[in-house]
Amino acid sequence: MHVLILGGDGYLGWPSAMYFSQKGYNVTVVDNYFRRNSCLELDVTMLYTVPTLVERAAIWHELTGREIKVVIGDLTDPEFMRSFFTGSITYDWSVDTGFSGIPDTVVHYAEQPSAPYSLFNYKYANTTLTNNLLVTNNVMFAVRDYTPDVHIIKLGTMGEYGTPDIDIEEGWLDIEHKGRKDTFLFPRQASSIYHTSKIMDTDLLWFGVRMWGLRVTDLMQGPVYGMETEESHIDERLRTIFNYDEIFGTIVNRFIVQAIVGYPLTVYGRGGQTRGYLNINDTLQCVGLAAENPPEKGDLKIYNQIMETFSVNQLAEMTQRVGRSLGYDVQIENIENPRQEAEEHYYNPTYQGLLDLGVKPHFLTDESLERMFRVVEQHKDAIRQETIFRGVKW
Ligand SMILES: NC(=O)c1ccc[n+]([C@@H]2O[C@H](COP(=O)([O-])OP(=O)(O)OC[C@H]3O[C@@H](n4cnc5c(N)ncnc54)[C@H](O)[C@@H]3O)[C@@H](O)[C@H]2O)c1
Repeated sequence: MHVLILGGDGYLGWPSAMYFSQKGYNVTVVDNYFRRNSCLELDVTMLYTVPTLVERAAIWHELTGREIKVVIGDLTDPEFMRSFFTGSITYDWSVDTGFSGIPDTVVHYAEQPSAPYSLFNYKYANTTLTNNLLVTNNVMFAVRDYTPDVHIIKLGTMGEYGTPDIDIEEGWLDIEHKGRKDTFLFPRQASSIYHTSKIMDTDLLWFGVRMWGLRVTDLMQGPVYGMETEESHIDERLRTIFNYDEIFGTIVNRFIVQAIVGYPLTVYGRGGQTRGYLNINDTLQCVGLAAENPPEKGDLKIYNQIMETFSVNQLAEMTQRVGRSLGYDVQIENIENPRQEAEEHYYNPTYQGLLDLGVKPHFLTDESLERMFRVVEQHKDAIRQETIFRGVKW
């Protein structure tokens, strides 16, 4: 099996590449450093320096003997995207371990993944829409035109559903209307331009499934936390990127950094905003199991990729408790909410599908939080407090 990872330099892309490689898959990664360049442009810094994608692949090969082929380039360019499916791609880094050619599975992570980035200004809103939709459209057409059996695994987000006042089903909703019944995509209602782009991605691929019988899995993922995976334990240089700023840092990662530098945990408004979360190791399990269980041709499988739900207040209290037990003076501050969102709401999502496939959840516990504190502590001196909060308004 050959898996092509679009966005292989990213927070989830690189750990996924090592995970598949360790399991014996042939792996190719592609990235244009959009995420790293955006951090530079916005003057936010990652917690620690991460080697380039080529350097990481070389370290991985040196330590494990396994190969992850690397291609650097922009997937909004349709010809570049198509070259992966015609077999005409030129690798920027590879060793000859005997694999090349067309993928069996594509994992599509290559998007602008931040809600605040997408509402920073009209220019970044444009970037988010064009980047995310073009990459999705390009992969869909390349697969349709050259390799229609290839399984596309696309990362969606639980944010596509918003916070409806009814239970959130796993992708689909049975509707009875005037005595007739049909099944539709569960209603989507985004709360940012980024989330809107993810809804449009889902719609694009659902169109491709209906029109051309493509095979697609859409993973509706919640915010991910953590930085250590089994493979990163081999060598610290293999650890994934870690942002702690408001633009690219996810909430648990940010709160730990704030706790360590004595920056009050920034709870937006009343803090009752509830979402589903998962450990980065569970993202790997979920994507791995999705790859092993492709849908039939002409089928769009949708899974809600979360392992448990928390309100912002619960996350802040947990971080405070663990931080205090480690000797940090952790304060919580309810600040004016820069976002347009419900601060108290009903939230009851279903998330059984991936558990049924065999995912064994890593729950968020005091112990797992403490392990993250221990890693962040090592880089305490590099933390730039002024980049933690930007107050990007909706
Ligand atoms: N991290 C989370 O908590 C989370 C939660 C839900 C959904 N997701 C989704 O998962 C996916 C991956 O998220 P992530 O956190 O790893 O983000 P990330 O920004 O770390 O990774 C995305 C990678 O794609 C690359 N990329 C973007 N546009 C590209 C292009 N045009 N050509 C080539 N490469 C390009 C970026 O440089 C980056 O390395 C995204 O689709 C995101 O929407 C993430």
